[in-house]
Amino acid sequence: MTQDELKQAVARAAISFVQDGTIVGVGTGSTANFFIDELAKIKHRIDGAVASSEASAARLKQHGIPVYDLNSISELSIYVDGADEVNKYRQMIKGGGAALTREKIVAAVAEKFICIADESKWVDILGKFPLPVEVIPMARSHVGRQLVKLGGYPVYREGTVTDNGNIIIDVHGLQIAEANKLESAINEIVGVVTNGLFAHRPADIVLLGTKDGVKTH
Ligand code: A5P
Repeated sequence: MTQDELKQAVARAAISFVQDGTIVGVGTGSTANFFIDELAKIKHRIDGAVASSEASAARLKQHGIPVYDLNSISELSIYVDGADEVNKYRQMIKGGGAALTREKIVAAVAEKFICIADESKWVDILGKFPLPVEVIPMARSHVGRQLVKLGGYPVYREGTVTDNGNIIIDVHGLQIAEANKLESAINEIVGVVTNGLFAHRPADIVLLGTKDGVKTH
C-alpha cells in the first residue's frame, strides 16, 4: 500500500466516529484532506464543520459542507486531524503545515480528539521531526535565543506566514523525554503563540494506517 492509501484508510476509519446531526472539527494537512473528502460523502448526515485552517475551510466549502466559526458553537463532539509524530501516550508533534495554533484551539474544545496517521508517524521518542513554534514576528530573535537555552536548534521557516499573521520557527535536535514540561516551557517564552507539542492535550484515539490494516491505539 502507498502512503496515500494508508492515509485514505485511516480517513475512512475516522468516519465511523462521526455522529449524525453534529458539527465536526476538522484538521489540516494531507491526511485531514482525505478525511474532508470522506466527510463529503456523508455531508447530508452532519450539520457542518469547524476548520483549523483557511485551507481546510476552503476544501470543506468546495464540497458544500457548511463551515462554522468556533465562537458560534457551544460544543464540539470530535476533532479529527493528522500528526507529524505520535507516540504510545498519544502525544503528538503537529504544525508541519503551520496550522498548529488553530489546531490546538479546536482540539481544546473538542470532547474527543481522533488522530489519523500513517505508520511513518509512529515514534518511540518525539523530536526527530523539528518542533514547530508559532511566534509573533518581532519576537523572532528573542524566541530563537531562548529555544537554544532549552537545548534546541531553531530554524526560521522562511516564506511561511500563519493564518494568524505570525511566523514559524522549527526547533531541530530535540529528544523529547518530558513532553508536558517542554510544551509548557516553550509556551512561557514571551512572543511564543504556541508550540506544536500536543502533550497536555493528547489524542484520545490514534488510528494508525499500517500494511496490516488500521490499528487503534
Ligand atoms: C498541520 O499544521 C499539521 O499539524 C498536520 O496535521 C500535520 O503536519 C500532518 O500533516 P500530513 O497529514 O500532511 O502528514
